[in-house]
Amino acid sequence: MTGQAVPAGVVGDLPDALRTRACELFGVQYPIVQTGMGYVSDAALTTATANAGGLGILSAGLLSYGELVAAIDKIKAGTDKPFGVNIRADQSDVEKRIDLLISAEVKVASFALAPKEKLIAKCKDAGLVVVPSIGARRHAEKVAGWGADAVIVQGGEGGGHTGGVPTSLLLPQVVDAVDIPVIGAGGFFDGRGLVAALAYGAAGIAMGTRFLLTSDSPVADAVKQVYLSKTVNDTVLTVEVDGVPQRVLRAGTVDKLESSSKPGRLIRAARNAVAFHRISDVSWKGMISEGLAMRKNQGLTWSQMVMAANAPMLYRSALLEGRTDVGVMATGQVVGLIDDIPSCAELINRIIAEATAVLGRLTPASGAHH
Ligand SMILES: Cc1cc2nc3c(=O)[nH]c(=O)nc-3n(C[C@H](O)[C@H](O)[C@H](O)COP(=O)(O)O)c2cc1C
Repeated sequence: MTGQAVPAGVVGDLPDALRTRACELFGVQYPIVQTGMGYVSDAALTTATANAGGLGILSAGLLSYGELVAAIDKIKAGTDKPFGVNIRADQSDVEKRIDLLISAEVKVASFALAPKEKLIAKCKDAGLVVVPSIGARRHAEKVAGWGADAVIVQGGEGGGHTGGVPTSLLLPQVVDAVDIPVIGAGGFFDGRGLVAALAYGAAGIAMGTRFLLTSDSPVADAVKQVYLSKTVNDTVLTVEVDGVPQRVLRAGTVDKLESSSKPGRLIRAARNAVAFHRISDVSWKGMISEGLAMRKNQGLTWSQMVMAANAPMLYRSALLEGRTDVGVMATGQVVGLIDDIPSCAELINRIIAEATAVLGRLTPASGAHH
């Protein structure tokens, strides 16, 4: 699983600065992570990233157990490189999923919500590399204390569930607070950003939105064009999707919910539930029990509960089925700085080439090899 060859013509001599603790820990060539994204980081995207020398992470949060087994098999058929799987620590069958990662010899267990100490210990005992995603310094300190191997630190500008502190502040804060490798996330898209993260003391970068907008991602082409048309001001941090702050495109369902009064929200949420029940194969019973559990666990309002129950369908309808009018599209603010759809290999190669050039510019005498 190790010993990747350097792709021809890219970086014959990778600067030492780009060989970080994260490369060593994950067993990958470059300090670039493609993060877990529900419905987006599927087997194909994960395989493409792994084959391009980065750490690809399969999103398992919205997959059934059987779908997860199939996705892992598919990745292993497409690459012999290491990869990760993003698990929801609050899922009822989380232990069974960890057992699967162990038996399938998956390298990295990534967590969407901070896992408990016991779960981290179980992963570590079996040799998994444990990398939770966190959005606040105290969470990083907590998981580091429990034995996590590294953390992905997501600043507020990042896509999906996110906190309020920007990457430029959160990253140095966490680097100073923990000794394990820190991977910066939220707002990264190019080689300058990679070098900037390293300057803050990070061991690499993780990107979501940038990988969503590659030719290897399963998102519908028309939806990728919608993302490309958006500016940095076209995202909104909303609690209206599932009760937890989430950064999404200001479009379709979210726009309507954000501007509705309370009763209006409930009506819209209910209408959405009816629409999604029609186009999905999830039963009313399943939707309602998931919603009630979330209302109880997360203190949601009724309209948030109704929305939360069908959040997975909101994502799937927009991203995969192109229903941008009724669905929800998670995104980072970085969407406003992205204007093309490269392959994962093109993206990673150009980030490394640019980071190498930037390092050469910053340290002309002593530094990077040319
Ligand atoms: C469409 C989308 C779906 C996401 N789904 C998940 C998820 O299921 N689990 C998770 O840990 N993070 C999820 N995230 C957050 C990303 O993993 C990543 O941390 C974030 O996108 C980084 O910020 P960036 O978009 O500025 O690169 C999602 C992000 C996006 C854009």
